[in-house]
Amino acid sequence: MTIRKVAVIGAGLMGSGIAAQVANAGVAVVLLDLVPGFAAGAVARGLAAQPSAFMHPDAAKRVTTGDLETDLGLVADCDWIVEAIVEKPEAKRALYERLQAVRRRGSVVSSNTSTIPLDHLTSGLPAAFAADFMITHFFNPPRFMRLLEVVTGPATRPEAAAAVRRFADVAMGKVVIDCRDTPGFIANRIGTLWLSAGTRHAIDLGLTVEEADAVAGPPMGVPRTGIFGLMDLVGIDLMPLVSGSLRRTLRNDDAFHAVHRDEPLIARMIAEGRIGRKGKGGFFQMQRQGGQRTRLAIDLATGEYRPEQAPDLASLKLRDLRALCAHDDRGGRYARALLLDTCGYAAALVPEIAGGIEDVDAAMRLGYNWREGPFELIDRVGATWFADALRAAGRPVPPLLQALGDRSFYRVENGRLQAFGPDGGYHDVARPEGVLLLADIQRASRPLAQNAAAALWDIGDGVVCLEFTSKMNALDEASMAMIDEAVAMGRAGGLKALVIHNEAANFSVGANLARLQDAAARAAWDEIGQMIEAGQRSFRALRAAPFPVVGAPSGLALGGGCEVLMHCHAVQAHAETYLGLVEIGVGLVPSWGGTTTLLTRWAAMPGLPKGPMPAVSRAFELISTGKTSSSAKDAQSLGLLRASDRITMNRDRLLADAKALALSLVAAHAPPAPVTLRLPGASGRAALAMAVEGFAALGKATPHDVTVCAAIAEVLTGGPADPIEDTPDDALYALEHDVNLRLVRTPETQARIRHMLETGKPLRN
Ligand code: NAI
Repeated sequence: MTIRKVAVIGAGLMGSGIAAQVANAGVAVVLLDLVPGFAAGAVARGLAAQPSAFMHPDAAKRVTTGDLETDLGLVADCDWIVEAIVEKPEAKRALYERLQAVRRRGSVVSSNTSTIPLDHLTSGLPAAFAADFMITHFFNPPRFMRLLEVVTGPATRPEAAAAVRRFADVAMGKVVIDCRDTPGFIANRIGTLWLSAGTRHAIDLGLTVEEADAVAGPPMGVPRTGIFGLMDLVGIDLMPLVSGSLRRTLRNDDAFHAVHRDEPLIARMIAEGRIGRKGKGGFFQMQRQGGQRTRLAIDLATGEYRPEQAPDLASLKLRDLRALCAHDDRGGRYARALLLDTCGYAAALVPEIAGGIEDVDAAMRLGYNWREGPFELIDRVGATWFADALRAAGRPVPPLLQALGDRSFYRVENGRLQAFGPDGGYHDVARPEGVLLLADIQRASRPLAQNAAAALWDIGDGVVCLEFTSKMNALDEASMAMIDEAVAMGRAGGLKALVIHNEAANFSVGANLARLQDAAARAAWDEIGQMIEAGQRSFRALRAAPFPVVGAPSGLALGGGCEVLMHCHAVQAHAETYLGLVEIGVGLVPSWGGTTTLLTRWAAMPGLPKGPMPAVSRAFELISTGKTSSSAKDAQSLGLLRASDRITMNRDRLLADAKALALSLVAAHAPPAPVTLRLPGASGRAALAMAVEGFAALGKATPHDVTVCAAIAEVLTGGPADPIEDTPDDALYALEHDVNLRLVRTPETQARIRHMLETGKPLRN
């Protein structure tokens, strides 16, 4: 079966987010709530949220809203009905009875419950319902959290479950992990114990909340929010609900009971409405005094706020996790207690909650944003050290760890990643059909070429992948050299197609500003000129390549990172790609062909009014504001991606999709014809200058913004020659180069570059 239309019942936090993600996938969705008008309000709130629940405002048009009383009939033609109402089994079962009367035969019903077991939800309902029922547990926020936990019952039809899994994976972009029907499934079972342990040990060992989060955060591969910051983020009021449910449903001998303690402080905070960021603050609170905002932190002993204090612990200076856990101060003791509790618990739960350790690790990475899951953490400190530490603390060593002995949970055998299984043997970590990971290729092969900033990998079938590898994938001469090498390889017949892709958090943050700053400090203007020329030459060589070049970005693709993509023949973008020509932030004009290419795109855009000026205005607006797209879909409206460029929802499928697209282009490939442009010349430049003066008068453009905008306008309108018909794009590339060499000599641009390097934020001078 194929899922063509979806219904979501319950338009709260989760239901509205799930419906938005279905709409983001391009599929029609019905969203119903008990409260009349609530679903429509939820869509409006989802649109207004920052970041929005929708990847593009148009997606919201795919959502039909209604209320349960009058509109339940709308679910009749839906293939999948997601229930996301209040976490009460009676309410959920009562809804299922009503759905049974209206839903299409063979449609699938799933619950987004976070804690209620499946057999509990279907008890008393007809067998025909149970056959179509499963649990699909999304994480908040559903657009951005990649984990979907799935539970099926003995009665669930395999083909129904397969259709939902496939839709959630390919269309909604989720990584689907099969869980056993146990309380809290995988991520919340371990995550709740981790939060309980983190709270309890911080109180008992006398850590401040800042110290606890600093230890439990980055050193353990966890986001900066650590323990207390995370509770503030998700809502402290949810904590007793989830832990209470686990306490009621877990067996008496479960280790959770020994670790979890109801903290009077938390009860008091909830009673006082101090439930976190959505309430009157939580463990942390923002205080406004005058124009100043200061962050306060709670004193765990008294429950009163005091100014935030930077943690100062010797253990926090240690780079190595094992050294941190072995260090004898309260930071080290805290890390050790947290690691032993959490990873010891996880090790005791396989195979009870999951088929394999790799599923547990993936669930914690994707559901809690940990860099490594519990078994990867145990490998990091060493399984023997970990088991010894458990013994030393007087705790049991779980059978899985005993069976592992002095080996590691993961190993690489014949280039393949293998995981230690509950059967006592290693087996290959399987990837779903259509998933191709560069990390897997890297385990199994050597690069075709490599330098300090990039590498080339053979990804099969004659396709080569160019990977950026520098810090934040900033682009420099070495990146360009590797592009040149790939082009040379292709010209010599060494490859059929090239894909530009990497698995870092961000595709590329743009040109290496440190290099630029260094050259500017030495007044090495020739060197800077050569950097600009080298980038233009390499990117244009990609465009002229006699083989297809496909960009496959995810995350940020800014400045030069955006420009390299704009020179590819096609882009297969992850849906969560944020593109922007943001050079104005460092006082420059996009000069690796970004200005020229954006104008070329807008000049060819259907539906614009006649004459050269409309395209120039669109390009100018985007470059002069340095606007970044909020998604790949949004980038298509901005002209940073073409309408014909493609989008992959599931990041794990990006490389395979890009490779398939590249191969599909091989037969008909011809490098694009030379471009000529009609430009408005001096009169157009004057019109743009007037607009900028207007912004400056309103205080929306700073003095140096005005200078940079004049340079952008100079390039886009064709420079001093006037007026210009059929200008070859070479002339614009040359102008990009010339204006930037002028700008980089100004103290204001140099100050912007320095500020960006120091703070990561643009200077508004
Ligand atoms: P919520 O309280 O934000 O939204 C629930 C919505 O359901 C409300 O709009 C309410 O009017 C509506 N509702 C209540 N009873 C209804 C009924 N009988 N028929 C139709 N609509 C009804 O709750 P939230 O957080 O969205 O949770 C929904 C479900 O998702 C729960 O089962 C929860 O355990 C689960 N969940 C929650 C997560 C979270 O982070 N909040 C994460 C994952 C799952």
